[in-house]
Amino acid sequence: MKKLNINFYAFLFIALGLLSFSCKSDKSGDESQEKDSVVMKTIKIEKKLYGTTPDGKTVDQYTLGNGSMEVDIITYGGIITSLRIPDKQGNVQDVVLGFDSLSEYIANNPYFGALIGRYGNRIANATFKLDGVDYKLVANNGPNHLHGGTKGFDKVVWTASEFENEDAFGIKLTYLSADGEEGYPGNLEVTVTYSLLQDNTLEVLYEAVTDKKTVVNLTQHTYFNLSADFSKPILDHEVSINADLYLPVDETLIPLGELASVEGTPFDFRASKKIGNEIDADNEQIKRGLGYDHCWVLNEQDQGMRSVATAYHAGSGRQLEVLSDEPGVQFYTGNFLDGTLTAKGGGTYAQRTGFCLETQHYPDSPNQEQFPSVVLEPGDKYSTKTAFKFTTK
Ligand code: GLA
Repeated sequence: MKKLNINFYAFLFIALGLLSFSCKSDKSGDESQEKDSVVMKTIKIEKKLYGTTPDGKTVDQYTLGNGSMEVDIITYGGIITSLRIPDKQGNVQDVVLGFDSLSEYIANNPYFGALIGRYGNRIANATFKLDGVDYKLVANNGPNHLHGGTKGFDKVVWTASEFENEDAFGIKLTYLSADGEEGYPGNLEVTVTYSLLQDNTLEVLYEAVTDKKTVVNLTQHTYFNLSADFSKPILDHEVSINADLYLPVDETLIPLGELASVEGTPFDFRASKKIGNEIDADNEQIKRGLGYDHCWVLNEQDQGMRSVATAYHAGSGRQLEVLSDEPGVQFYTGNFLDGTLTAKGGGTYAQRTGFCLETQHYPDSPNQEQFPSVVLEPGDKYSTKTAFKFTTK
């Protein structure tokens, strides 16, 4: 009996001990979760006035931060004006080209950081036919229509709202593009959601609905320079693009229609290589683009969201991975930058000091039936996602 008692008390002691331990570990779980939410789950959304457009519209800047990286986005053009990420030593620096003021973005922006719509890249001769109707668009790039026209989505003020859910937080930008805007049919209601994830991924979700059959092809035109030194060309960045084919272009950069193999050409980025390796190759296509300014036909188009490209800068150890559900990516190496625009914090943007990986449908798709369709019908929803993931190695 005595023994039993001792056993009973021993049992009670152990049971209580275990209980208190489990309570504690629960609590410390809570604490560590709380701690996690401080250390790993930092959610920062800050809004401030950025400026006012000449026609009196207020432009706000939102800063999203997760404790490791931060991104500034303004409601004018949905422009990413700054994106600050760590290098391999933990130095957090801005790696995207842009300006220091709204007036510079308004005056002459080569699409730095901007949302592009209704149509990313070119539509030949600024015209297309839909159900037998000819639509005449604004020709703003020689004979062609580029990036939505003279007042594309990069030049409008979006309405912003903040959101937060379990996995992500960020801002939702909306814009109603009226029927006939820049020549396009249909009232197009557009929503672009920028989400910042805890693993240093910036996700961009593009959604749109229309009340008339139309075409739509949205993208993001950020110029990256992972060295964070905007005076340095991006030629030393190592890039890979998951594409066996690309789209050769004519002299005005309209795809010829043929899907050409990258094999044996400067366009072969299936194995990672420095941008500078063949950017000045004696190649007709390279000459037409003044470097790379082409659409790659991405592999695994039926896979939905997948890794489509990477860019790595050895000096800083920064790596960008682009994931997307889009069939194409326009890889543009800042060939038109010519040292005339003032860089953030001083200096100028010389040629090839930034590169863009613009995930999208192929240029001129409305005129090229063999390309994946960009037609949006009333009742259907346009929805496409691209993610920019930043790591170091
Ligand atoms: C895209 C185009 C380029 C150029 C840039 C912006 O990448 O393909 O030709 O227009 O945008 O300058």
